[in-house]
Amino acid sequence: MDKPAILVTRAVFPDVLERLAQHFEVESNQDDRIFAEDELAHRLRGKAGVFTTPTERVTARVIAANPALRAICNMAVGYNNIDVDAATRAGVIVTNTPDVLNETTADFAWALLLATARRVTEAERWLRAGKWDKWRFDTLLGADVHGSTLGIVGMGRIGQAIARRSAGFDMRVIYHNRSRLAPDIEAHANHAQYVSKEELLRSADHVLLALPYTPQSHHAIGAAELALMKRTATLVNIARGGIVDDAALIAALRAGRIAAAGLDVFENEPAFDPGFLTLSNVVLTPHIGSATEPTRRAMANCAADNLIAALTGGNPPNILNPQLQSRE
Ligand code: DGY
Repeated sequence: MDKPAILVTRAVFPDVLERLAQHFEVESNQDDRIFAEDELAHRLRGKAGVFTTPTERVTARVIAANPALRAICNMAVGYNNIDVDAATRAGVIVTNTPDVLNETTADFAWALLLATARRVTEAERWLRAGKWDKWRFDTLLGADVHGSTLGIVGMGRIGQAIARRSAGFDMRVIYHNRSRLAPDIEAHANHAQYVSKEELLRSADHVLLALPYTPQSHHAIGAAELALMKRTATLVNIARGGIVDDAALIAALRAGRIAAAGLDVFENEPAFDPGFLTLSNVVLTPHIGSATEPTRRAMANCAADNLIAALTGGNPPNILNPQLQSRE
């Protein structure tokens, strides 16, 4: 029997491509260009499945143009690049890669929080510029992390992993989420306390965003929310661009309305707002929260497992539209 045809939209670990080739006729994007909507629709002609990354937009139009498509398997936990409703209506399975990146992303959230609060990258730029001529009592004073209040917006699995790490810093954790967690989960997350978003923004010394990007979370942090925060507060976003109104954040940082921001994600990335480059009180990183070799490998294998299961009659472990699951 012929193997089903699939498209792998971007470069990925060669051994994962080899695994996929054992099950499928694989067309892979060797030159690693990002396919725009029309090209993606065209490349998917006759394909039963697609292995995507966060850079491709799998729109309703792409899905409608490809009636042979049966599975879209994203190598990311976030899936705002895929129109899941349109896929479900067309009977196309959609999967993501949860869990395998929780701990790595939580580590990175801490790297960004500490670097931002303690001005690490600013201090290095200052040193490299030859400005360090003597010790002074007030050189590059930052904010304390230990003993402070950490406010986590979005207390899913990554938010909980971030909260657990805060015990080592003797922090109080408050969180806001669509729904309150069960008491045993709160206890395991350094005894996190559920509060309203407004209370979190008013009380936290460090506000950390770990929520998914959806139409409801678009600009969840804008001028009004930034105005509620302490002037000494730090904002860290490891979730998705679009959750923060970047223009409003630049204005708030420029005006000293909040102290600093650590950002791994941006609106319109990689073409982020150049206003950020004019600010010294920001730490900017290029969407690398999950970027360690073992974790990116685990994500790629997880997406491959999902695709193999979806196209060989099994139930993909990470299905986002379970109504399409086969009832075995
Ligand atoms: C995810 O998994 O959603 C990450 O942002 C990809 O790096």
